[in-house]
Amino acid sequence: MTVVNGYEQSDNEKKLDILNLPALEDEAKKIIPTGGYGYIFGGSEDDWTLRQNTKAFEHAQIVPKALSDIESPDLSTNVFGLDLKTPVMMAPTAAQGLAHAKGEADTARGVAAVGGLMAQSTYSSTSIADTAAAGNGAPQFFQLYMSKDWSFNESLLDEAKKAGVKAIILTVDATVDGYREQDIINNFQFPIPMANLTKFSEGDGKGKGIGEIYASAAQKIGPDDVRRIAEYTDLPVIVKGIQSPEDALRAIGAGAAGIYVSNHGGRQLMVAQHHSMYLKASLRQLTTKYQSFLILVFAVGAMSSRH
Ligand code: LAC
Repeated sequence: MTVVNGYEQSDNEKKLDILNLPALEDEAKKIIPTGGYGYIFGGSEDDWTLRQNTKAFEHAQIVPKALSDIESPDLSTNVFGLDLKTPVMMAPTAAQGLAHAKGEADTARGVAAVGGLMAQSTYSSTSIADTAAAGNGAPQFFQLYMSKDWSFNESLLDEAKKAGVKAIILTVDATVDGYREQDIINNFQFPIPMANLTKFSEGDGKGKGIGEIYASAAQKIGPDDVRRIAEYTDLPVIVKGIQSPEDALRAIGAGAAGIYVSNHGGRQLMVAQHHSMYLKASLRQLTTKYQSFLILVFAVGAMSSRH
């Protein structure tokens, strides 16, 4: 264990014998300090949205195709011209140093090993370059929490491009913080610096709560920002946090190359729509209309195996 600003960060390395995701979550609870665990695990308010997400997935059903005449199913897919062995993206979850000293670097290594796609968060514990290097050439995306300071956005986007990321995910649903009861109970403030914020004039996140960190980012995000990021980076821009067909169309109109349907894992708004509702209503319409369009819907909502 390493103690960072009083936070007992695990540096334990062992092979995990995982039966299922809830069992893994129990193991995580044993090694992640209460404040970090509450931040990762909790939703907003009394977890209403998070619980609805979980329920929605409990109702999701798969209809197997019989007599398919296939010996070895092929899970490989292609996203924005990238070949993936498995159709899974690691969502851009923040501050993974709360769970382990190797933070996002080891996550990137694991995702690369299974042939998936790694998305790095602006609020990562590990820097863009280090996480990219750990991925060893496997495809990665970079998620941007836009700053009010455009030159800071440029510096992050420059680093992301230099590190070879293949797309930018612009998060638009977290301009203010959700009312996160676990963080209030634990009086949680990030004990570990966020590596990408070290150049940021308002501090590197250390000693701040999520509300203060979001407050330092941009509150005003509009279609022009999507255009500007696409033009600046010349990379596909995926807009994350879309919950209605109207917003999806607005993002598409602004030049988004993808829509990331999400209610932020139930961590932002209480009473947000859960995934199955927009799956039925909006996505079907959009996939018919925009056939080559990338639409990402995540079974693992935010940071817990429950949603
Ligand atoms: C969160 C952010 C940082 O949900 O994505 O805490």
